Amino acid sequence: MLRLVFNPRTARTRLWVRVFIYPFVIKKGKHSKIRSSVRLDLNPNNKFQIGSGSIIESGAIINNGIGDIVIGDNSMITCRAMILAPAIIGNNVVVGISSQVLGLTHDFNDISLSVKEQSVSGTQVTIKDGAWIGGNCCILQGVTIGEHSLVGAGSVVNKDVPPYSVAVGNPARVIKRYDFDKKEWVRVER
Ligand SMILES: CC(C)(COP(=O)(O)OP(=O)(O)OC[C@H]1O[C@@H](n2cnc3c(N)ncnc32)[C@H](O)[C@@H]1OP(=O)(O)O)[C@@H](O)C(=O)NCCC(=O)NCCS
Repeated sequence: MLRLVFNPRTARTRLWVRVFIYPFVIKKGKHSKIRSSVRLDLNPNNKFQIGSGSIIESGAIINNGIGDIVIGDNSMITCRAMILAPAIIGNNVVVGISSQVLGLTHDFNDISLSVKEQSVSGTQVTIKDGAWIGGNCCILQGVTIGEHSLVGAGSVVNKDVPPYSVAVGNPARVIKRYDFDKKEWVRVER
């Protein structure tokens, strides 16, 4: 089925799917925008949904080949960002320039085959409401970024980030948390 939809050599959706099937697959909320230069590699068997007021900026890549991609309301997927399913992105989220949300990974257990010849698998990435992912970040499979949390530029996130936290680095570590009693962000000792 995937071979019918995707060209296996390029991982690009076939032209007939883009022309005839996409209008039925893409679910767009009111005032949402997907710039014309966005590369959409959509599998009609999976969901691709973008909520009202959200935007996917120029040069972004969206691929829901092996799972759903759901983007909430008023969120922004900025220029050249990439979303590989499965991924759920909440409301008022920003995915920064050239950042990657990677719900998909390649299997590599069988050493008699190249990684390219082995299958792929997915574990959902979740980015909760109000979170902000800086530029050039990599959010790896299975990770949840908590509500209103920030990920610093260039970070590689391989573990969950709790709500109201700032995480930076590779691998990303929480450096600040919001203290609701003091009403300010406080440093977390490493
Ligand atoms: C994380 C960020 C928001 C700053 O948060 P902050 O709370 O003001 O952080 P501070 O400047 O106080 O730095 C705290 C510590 O984290 C480190 N740090 C900050 N940002 C970092 C990053 N992106 N990667 C690694 N370390 C970082 C600082 O060096 C400092 O470390 P130290 O205490 O050992 O000296 C900012 O650094 C950042 O990464 N912004 C992203 C900008 C961006 O991507 N813009 C494009 C958006 S589309």
